[in-house]
Amino acid sequence: MVGLLRAAILALMVASGISAARAEDYPARTVTIIVPFAAGGPADITGRIVADIFSRHLGQKFLVENVVGAGGTTGALRAAKANADGYTLLSGHLGTNALAPAFYPNLGYDPQKDFAPVGLSAEYPEVLVARKDFPANNFKEFVAYAKANPEKLNVGHAGLGSVSYIGCLLLHSAMGIKPTLVPFTGTGPVLNAMLAGQVDYECDPVLGTLGQVQAGNVKALVVAARKRSPLLPDVPTSYEQGLPEFDCAPFYGVFAPAGTPQAIVDKLAEALTKGLNEEAVLKRLAELGAEPIEPSRRGPKALGELVKNEAARLLPILKAASEK
Ligand code: MLT
Repeated sequence: MVGLLRAAILALMVASGISAARAEDYPARTVTIIVPFAAGGPADITGRIVADIFSRHLGQKFLVENVVGAGGTTGALRAAKANADGYTLLSGHLGTNALAPAFYPNLGYDPQKDFAPVGLSAEYPEVLVARKDFPANNFKEFVAYAKANPEKLNVGHAGLGSVSYIGCLLLHSAMGIKPTLVPFTGTGPVLNAMLAGQVDYECDPVLGTLGQVQAGNVKALVVAARKRSPLLPDVPTSYEQGLPEFDCAPFYGVFAPAGTPQAIVDKLAEALTKGLNEEAVLKRLAELGAEPIEPSRRGPKALGELVKNEAARLLPILKAASEK
């Protein structure tokens, strides 16, 4: 018995010694950041900003891998099940890391138990964007047309439970319509389909369509937030337009699999915070329409609380919207 106990204590000491040593050397090789949506969309753009920050601050390559499917939950599941050694991370968001259980009864991971939060990367308000020749030129016209012709509408989104799906779910339930929903692997491909006239509109974080809105190739009709985006000063908000239920500004953040040594999570969190405070990064995020994030909202603890609070706040709203 005493022998067994001694062996167990020895094994524990060796294991903790190894993980302390690993944390000290970390990262000793390339790290993969899973982005659970297609290239070119908000998740991918944000994931690549974060990968660049880590690469520069931690002196190793951090490479983005796009693992798409099932509204981002395929990639999130892969990250949740990866070795908890800091070499596989997830750049997830409000959908994959807080609200997915509302849409997938057999999700395969628990967003609040199976991840160690590292830190919030960015938050962006969503915008309702329609194809250039859509027969409505402002939000009032959109509501009138959509209510009169719901069966004609094709709405692009990045999969069940993605934030583009969630945003338009809130919009549609407030308007009392059920258009045809067309799933893609990300809103990068949705935008291409909209430019080709294959879908009518989408609800996407502002950075996703900004360039094409500014070039006049698609039309931004309303911002799903209380305040206007400084990048789209002429586009009214859903509050101004009398539809405050269409309120969606998803967070994007970095997560490690649960069980990742705390020293590694802390090292990542410190690098992320440093990078996000750099002038050039702040400028880039502002150009993409990100909301400024106060210092107290940075880091693992704040992201863990945000996940919990957003799930508690939005799950009942989504449930009610889905049942309408
Ligand atoms: C994307 O990057 O494709 C979108 O942010 C995904 C989503 O709508 O959740």
